[in-house]
Amino acid sequence: MKILGIDVGGSGIKGAPVDTKTGELLAKRYRIETPEKAKPKDVAKVVKKIARHFDWDGAIGCGFPAVIQRGMARSAANIHDSWIGRDVEALFTRYTDCPVRVLNDADAAGLAEMRFGAGHKRSGVVLIITVGTGLGSALFTDGHLVPNTELGHLEIDGQDAETNASDAARQRDDLSWKKWAKRFDVYLHTVDQLFSPDLVIIGGGASKKMHKFANRLTVSVELLPAQLRNEAGIIGGALFAESLRRS
Ligand code: BGC
Repeated sequence: MKILGIDVGGSGIKGAPVDTKTGELLAKRYRIETPEKAKPKDVAKVVKKIARHFDWDGAIGCGFPAVIQRGMARSAANIHDSWIGRDVEALFTRYTDCPVRVLNDADAAGLAEMRFGAGHKRSGVVLIITVGTGLGSALFTDGHLVPNTELGHLEIDGQDAETNASDAARQRDDLSWKKWAKRFDVYLHTVDQLFSPDLVIIGGGASKKMHKFANRLTVSVELLPAQLRNEAGIIGGALFAESLRRS
């Protein structure tokens, strides 16, 4: 099935048509900067531009950086507060004139990694942590997603984990990957204690840099870099729209 996958991120909004059988992108990914403040109408206009770029009139699946329940945003950490309570699916459907399904962006990346990437055929408890502007999480048990876990907002030493251990925090505090890894290691120990995962997959921008910091991580759980890199959110968005159409 061909579905347009879109990944709404803190710095860019990216999309490409995806073959959901193989996970392959059917055209070069198209990226537009996330509008400043990331307000609903401005973001919806960008989503529309991406659909227009591909001349799209079919199903769209979209990863979005917030808690998403039945298409509705329930949180807003790195996007405008006015998203809270907004029906994101209805808004994007109205702007694109296409049927749209929306899920949390880290959950989208997780779906893609479990189907086509580092989590392929892995059972037990698998946790995907995406390290970017925010710190995202996707939790799987025997291949089933527990959505909206939001483990990036765990409180560690009285602080929101994301504020300290995201890639935005690394850049803000001008840290080398090695120095940042000390903070990330504390975070990994916390999630390991809470969930005893069998595997943790590191996604987002950090997945490309894992060779720079992996030897600084002291957790005993198996760690793997995400395989689908920047494309995981796009592919996972498309997969999500496919599963809803089947049900
Ligand atoms: C948001 C999550 C999102 C993550 C990665 C966090 O700030 O709360 O919903 O998955 O950033 O974008």
